[in-house]
Amino acid sequence: MKATAISHANIAFIKYWGKKNTKLNLPQNTTLSVNLDNLTTTTTVEFSDEFKEDSVIIDNEKSTDEFNRTIKFIDIIRNEAKIQLKAKITSVNNFPKKSGLASSSSGFSALALAGSSAAGLKLSEKELTILARRGSGSASRSIPDGIVEWKEGDGNKNSFAYKIHDKDYWDIQAIVLIHTTKEKKVGSTEGHEFARTSPFYDQRLKIINSRISKMKKAIKEKDFETFGLLLEEEAIELHVIAMTSKPPILYWEPKTIEIMKFCQQIRNDKNLPVYFTMDAGPQPVLFCKKKDTKKILSHLKTLKGIEKIIVCKPSDGAKLTSRHLF
Ligand code: PMV
Repeated sequence: MKATAISHANIAFIKYWGKKNTKLNLPQNTTLSVNLDNLTTTTTVEFSDEFKEDSVIIDNEKSTDEFNRTIKFIDIIRNEAKIQLKAKITSVNNFPKKSGLASSSSGFSALALAGSSAAGLKLSEKELTILARRGSGSASRSIPDGIVEWKEGDGNKNSFAYKIHDKDYWDIQAIVLIHTTKEKKVGSTEGHEFARTSPFYDQRLKIINSRISKMKKAIKEKDFETFGLLLEEEAIELHVIAMTSKPPILYWEPKTIEIMKFCQQIRNDKNLPVYFTMDAGPQPVLFCKKKDTKKILSHLKTLKGIEKIIVCKPSDGAKLTSRHLF
């Protein structure tokens, strides 16, 4: 009983920040995202009566800090499959984890698909998004292909994700700028919990449905400028809420602000449509049209202190593969 899945991290256009149910990871609002082809997690899960204990290896190291969360998730699968076998889980990321690049989205979606398949569960795509959500909310959006909507719902069965557009629908690209690989100090689990203590949180919830409609319309009409302005508005709001939570969370580094300003500068001075977003971390992700990527990259070359640039296009969701890691 062994299965391997490969999944992509997604970045949210409309963010998930704050939960209405912590145990089930039900988000306070519906969210939108895109899967990114060059940020991947590959995970192999095997259940066997030969294993005396569960083991978790992430990026070639025996995991201690992720062990409990991973096994709690594997327990949900064991429960559904009515098995008690111990599991061996090995996972590799092709990008730094816990640095604000949504590694939990690719991580738990790959784990949901590999784990449920290895346990013999035959889940539909919708059921898989519900299962992945239990591990990490954003992981639900890495199961379907392309541009994805995750309906907030109000219970386990009706908070699920689905594709709204194929990966080839729009020729947009994401430029991921990694300027630090330090693991962030405050994870999203605590960030979600503190969000409601921000005085701006209620205001966010009042306007979010209208922003979602505007964003969906901009995507439908391929109106890149409206999309980009909403993207920045949404990313800044997430961070304003984090900064004004109690206790305050500061994910931005000086370089983050430098990149945000640089992005706006090349947009205004060079007339290049490029906009930023960010997850709960310091790494900005720039969005542009494919035809402009080269020019934007040449401008970005003048920025100092960038460790790595990863250019991504929209990708499919999680898929099984026969290339097992062990
Ligand atoms: O799925 P989590 O618990 O890692 O939360 C993700 C939160 C953000 O990345 C900041 C926003 C989002 O919608 O992905």
